[in-house]
Amino acid sequence: MTEPVILVGFMGSGKSTIGRRLAERLGVEFRDLDARIEAREGRTIASFFDQEGEAFFRELESRSLAAELSAGGGFVLALGGGAFAQERNRALLAGHDTVWLDCPFELVAARVARETNRPLARDPERFARLFAERRPLYALAKHRVAVISDDPDEAVTAILHGLTRPE
Ligand code: S3P
Repeated sequence: MTEPVILVGFMGSGKSTIGRRLAERLGVEFRDLDARIEAREGRTIASFFDQEGEAFFRELESRSLAAELSAGGGFVLALGGGAFAQERNRALLAGHDTVWLDCPFELVAARVARETNRPLARDPERFARLFAERRPLYALAKHRVAVISDDPDEAVTAILHGLTRPE
């Protein structure tokens, strides 16, 4: 595999868990964009939201995404939930194998409800609004896989099937 596979979708849809398993199956490196930002900056994502604000984090996120893609090669990259909602990031990802992990609201809400380490999951109303607003944007990804269980292997199998299917 020489091209990256990029997982997009809402908070709690399983991007990191499924991504790690997918990378194992493909025999490539797994990268988590948020984890890489945190490791490089020596700070948590929440601290950027709390101290500099969301716009500052989005800048950092876009620059990090551009850097990951420019290096080239085959790997699986999990994005943070807001990354694909940004037009400039979708432009960077045009032509790449983006996969939307489409997970129902009940499942993502149960997984991340009231989590304090996810700034945008702290307020349940905002969380629900973001979910509805972003669905049409995630739908712009090249592939869509329904995530309806907690078993990551089900999603991995569906992703592999979708990636090998001729368009
Ligand atoms: C965000 C999702 C988070 C993280 C940040 C913002 C979002 O990533 O990037 O808190 O805007 O949905 P996860 O989707 O991994 O939780």
